[in-house]
Amino acid sequence: MDLVLVGLPGSGKTAVGRRVASRHGAAFLDLDEQIERAEGRTIPEIFATEGEAGFRRLERAAVAALGPADASPTLRRVISPGGGAIVDPRNRWALYRGRLAVWLDVRPEVLAQRLRRSPNVRPLVQGGDPLGRVRQLAAARERFYGAAHRVNGVAEITGVVDAVEGLVAAGVSAGTTLLRSTTKIGDLVIGESIAADAVGDALRRLEARRAIFVSEPGAWAAFGEGLATALAAAGWPVETVLLPAGEDAKRLSVIEEAARGLARLRVERREPLIAVGGGALGDPAGFLAAAYLRGVPWIQVPTTLVAQVDSAIGGKTGVDLPEGKNLLGAFHHPAAIVLDVAALRTLPERQLRAALGEIVKMAALGDEALFATLEADGETIARGDAAAFEAGAVAEVVERAAWAKVEVVSADEREHASAGGRITLNLGHTIGHALEAADGYATLLHGEAVAYGTRAAVRIGEAVGVTPPERARRIDGLLDRLDLGRAPLPYPVDAVLEATGTDKKHSGGRLRWVLPTGDGVTIRDDVPAEVVREAAAAVLAGAGTGSPA
Ligand SMILES: NC(=O)c1ccc[n+]([C@@H]2O[C@H](COP(=O)([O-])OP(=O)(O)OC[C@H]3O[C@@H](n4cnc5c(N)ncnc54)[C@H](O)[C@@H]3O)[C@@H](O)[C@H]2O)c1
Repeated sequence: MDLVLVGLPGSGKTAVGRRVASRHGAAFLDLDEQIERAEGRTIPEIFATEGEAGFRRLERAAVAALGPADASPTLRRVISPGGGAIVDPRNRWALYRGRLAVWLDVRPEVLAQRLRRSPNVRPLVQGGDPLGRVRQLAAARERFYGAAHRVNGVAEITGVVDAVEGLVAAGVSAGTTLLRSTTKIGDLVIGESIAADAVGDALRRLEARRAIFVSEPGAWAAFGEGLATALAAAGWPVETVLLPAGEDAKRLSVIEEAARGLARLRVERREPLIAVGGGALGDPAGFLAAAYLRGVPWIQVPTTLVAQVDSAIGGKTGVDLPEGKNLLGAFHHPAAIVLDVAALRTLPERQLRAALGEIVKMAALGDEALFATLEADGETIARGDAAAFEAGAVAEVVERAAWAKVEVVSADEREHASAGGRITLNLGHTIGHALEAADGYATLLHGEAVAYGTRAAVRIGEAVGVTPPERARRIDGLLDRLDLGRAPLPYPVDAVLEATGTDKKHSGGRLRWVLPTGDGVTIRDDVPAEVVREAAAAVLAGAGTGSPA
């Protein structure tokens, strides 16, 4: 077994780690020390010459050099990464997977005291206001440390060591938790093979007495049934309400039928529902939770990539009407959101690829790391290659895109901000929605439509001078590589333009366009009609940067 100790600088990883290691005759590996030895320089020297980015590269290599986790039941290695190593999702994937990860949690006030007395120079907390700096680091990293088992690191060292020993005795769990955070919009957990434990935890927190699932046949067969079996094995009585598959679930008559199912099960006011499925299940299941008994708590277990990075986050629930999609609904945030990337292994390629349309949009909003990851690994993710799962690429993309949405939505829960805020998420959606409408929601998947819409926004942005050519080429190039938004579409340009007129991004009669800038987006309501027409016509003609597909 390998034990990984994480925590802020000064949290006692070395002191605690050495003691635990010596009790078991295990090796103690301090990754910062290893880097210094290999480089023949101290970390402050590396920071001074190569900057933080240079140091982080060396750190990633040191983590990779650990090789696979030790699978024996006896403790063989105690690994102490530097405090910031786990910020990088791939490091966390490599460090936490198959290992026992423990967080030595020490309050910033105590840490600042300790660091003041420390003989070691720690570059990230040097300079004035160490307490302020430690607080900042704690806030930025808590969700990464929180994925590990928490031990109160303020106690006497023997007490801390004993607490760690207790966890060592319990062994390594099968799943890998990568991120855990209590957010304004629900408790979020991300990982692999974590759903049963995470849903069980959420049910206990909500004082539930049974596990009431709402799902649909596809997601149920692929993932829900296994989850229900695991919860039943853990002692939970299980109930199930199945909605129809796909968009057919988003009908008001389905809500009535499902609510009657809940009534027959005598579901009470505080009993949570567990929604297992993609966006076409989460939207109506959430609406059911919002409306049944005027609102019961719910837990989201999204099983598609679209749902994990988009629809499950933000509390928008609802159903369609014959007059339009999502016209009837409510904001109702789930109590917990469980993103288990294991669910995505059975997802068809077309679903994965289309979801990347939304994720490219998230990158274009200004997430450089997400952009780079998609450029490097997007194609293998789109194909659903086992290697993309094994390497942690899928988990990284889910984490980055989902967290980016958490941040935007938390800052603007009900879409009130006029600039910035939630409206920025509509990049690519004005033309995207119009294409879906022109298509009669028949053939295009939402993410596919968003990819066309993003290309259109890039063209409009270039035409009105807000999207620099190199940014335009980069976004189009990524979409080309992912084979998104390239093929010509058979809809008349007038039908598409007319559909933009009913788009909800209307404000005072003028369409508000979210357009890419050099490193993010801006909102413009003065785009000339002929520029929009040209962009719509170009994407309909199949105008990627390359030749039409
Ligand atoms: N609420 C929001 O903020 C929001 C945001 C984006 C999209 N949406 C909505 O989401 C819906 C689209 O959701 P979607 O793209 O997830 O599609 P979906 O829910 O229809 O799922 C797609 C298909 O995959 C199957 N499936 C689900 N999980 C699976 C798994 N793990 N393995 C294999 N197959 C699986 C389903 O049975 C279905 O056939 C639309 O209705 C859209 O309006 C909502």
